[in-house]
Amino acid sequence: MNNFSYYNPTKIIFGKGKIASIAKEIPAEARVLVTYGGGSIKRNGVYDQVREALKGHDFLEFGGIEVNPGYETLMKGVEVVRKEAVTMLLAVGGGSVADGTKFIAAAANFKGEPWDILSKQAPVKSAIPLGVVLTLPATGSESNSFAVISRKATHEKLAFGSPLCYPKFAVLDPETTYTLPPVQIANGVVDAFIHTIEQYLTYPAAAPLQDRLAEGVLLTLLEVGPKALATPNDYDTMASLMWCATLALNGLIGCGVPQDWSTHMIGHELTAAYGIDHARTLAVVLPGLLRNRREEKHEKLLQYARQIWGVTDGSDDERIESAIGRTEEFFQSLGVPTRLSGYVDAVSAPEAIAARLEARGGNPLGERASITPDVVREILATRL
Ligand code: NZQ
Ligand code: ZN
Repeated sequence: MNNFSYYNPTKIIFGKGKIASIAKEIPAEARVLVTYGGGSIKRNGVYDQVREALKGHDFLEFGGIEVNPGYETLMKGVEVVRKEAVTMLLAVGGGSVADGTKFIAAAANFKGEPWDILSKQAPVKSAIPLGVVLTLPATGSESNSFAVISRKATHEKLAFGSPLCYPKFAVLDPETTYTLPPVQIANGVVDAFIHTIEQYLTYPAAAPLQDRLAEGVLLTLLEVGPKALATPNDYDTMASLMWCATLALNGLIGCGVPQDWSTHMIGHELTAAYGIDHARTLAVVLPGLLRNRREEKHEKLLQYARQIWGVTDGSDDERIESAIGRTEEFFQSLGVPTRLSGYVDAVSAPEAIAARLEARGGNPLGERASITPDVVREILATRL
């Protein structure tokens, strides 16, 4: 097992009716900015619950954070924070609102051009404290330190992370997810599944507990994903999905093991270039990437075939292909196309995405740093 440090300070407050408890988590004297997206929280009662909980607090609102939160919009939030002397942020929504709020938190006190936090990985020295009320189980942003921000003008989508950006608390009330459209439920299942794969499907690191934890998340997602689509108002199903998505990316399953993240890096470029939903880019890339890296990932692919898909018969190659094929069919069964042609006419995508990665320095991706822009071109050429 590799050495590791594990630190996750986010207090998870889980269950129905728990939005009311934010009043206790936010200091009485705080000046709060409630941030949200395009208005889903106003249609499903979450906004009203938040307002009710904050009755005794001094708070303002900043709405309109878009899907793939945009730097241009978020900088308007930064202006509000500075002008109004906000001391606490409360993100109410999905991963985009949580991520956007983390950027506002980090940018508000930043000396210089805040885009440098993303483009130059400029260190974040202070951040406004934030909490999250989650309405979409998917990204894990509610209890991790990362955020992915887009700059619409230049079609860039870049990530940053800072320990100062861990939410202080996250309220996970499964009832808030009842209004999710099927597309977003499917996106959430696929995103959480692939977060787990990025930390599991690499090479053995003598870490059987981490493997069992990851396999537990994957198996649970296989079980509850289709149920969530079929019965989105079933409390226990949505509760399991919500907890899976948090555990998939709160740092725990990745302790002491190699991590890949190349599917995500390629996926972010696809979203930036073509506007495809985050999870859907991953469903396109992953099968091709696993096939392309089957030698490097050989042992873990066999373990994945056995533990997750119960595939034990046939040659190594046959078992690996069967596991990758079933993974792809699982995504498709959720209504998520796994080919680029399911989203855009993008025959030029392999070349365009390889060129974008090259322009960013061309650093090879993956747990063995072996996925060069040329390999990315090869992978995407199999995904048209
Ligand atoms: O904007 P509103 O009106 O709230 O509507 C949203 C949005 O249209 C809607 N929605 C959310 N909760 C709802 C709801 N609709 C009805 N009922 C509800 N309860 O769903 C739509 C999608 O929301 P979004 O927040 O964009 O989705 P998601 O949570 O999948 O977040 C995706 C973003 O997170 C980033 C992605 O790149 C993408 O920008 N990621 C963040 C990560 C992190 N911080 O660790 C890791 C991930 O890999 C990912 O990159
Ligand atoms: Zn993701």
